[in-house]
Amino acid sequence: MSNETLLTRRGLFMKLGVLFNAIVAAMLAVPILRYLLSSVTLKRANAYADWVPLGPVGQFPEGETRLATFRNPFVMPGDGQTADTACWVRRIEGEQFQVFAVNCAHLGCPVRWFPQSGLFMCPCHGGAYYRDGSRASGPPERGLFEYPSTIQLGILKIHAGELPTPGPNAALYRKRPPCA
Ligand code: FES
Repeated sequence: MSNETLLTRRGLFMKLGVLFNAIVAAMLAVPILRYLLSSVTLKRANAYADWVPLGPVGQFPEGETRLATFRNPFVMPGDGQTADTACWVRRIEGEQFQVFAVNCAHLGCPVRWFPQSGLFMCPCHGGAYYRDGSRASGPPERGLFEYPSTIQLGILKIHAGELPTPGPNAALYRKRPPCA
């Protein structure tokens, strides 16, 4: 094999290596750039104020508490199912609703509704809440967090952009003081 052939083969492999690295770099750069530019390219500034639909009012029977899911308004294309967020919907009667965050007010474990006992129970440390979301027993110091809700054209909607907290912003929507 001549030196000229060896050099040509080496040069070819070198070019293939550079091409392969360029392809991998481009593949890695796309999601990174999308992440960095997402605050500019996605119109999410008003997501806090958006009403997020939970479904037709008729799908929540009076006197019952049902699990529902909604899309987090800050969803990004790559979020997939992780943007589906659960909540508990209690239809008291008529158009009176309560919508609770699924997370325990202690350390955030998902609570479950037990219609037989009329309690939300937390599997982590035994926290319990009454049907109206108020604290019944256990480590949580307060009741379940509640989303502000409304009905528009027969669709139950909530303010979901801001996770409910005892802080002042959530309280603004509810028009009552924090931790009320
Ligand atoms: S996380 Fe629910 S009681 Fe601790």
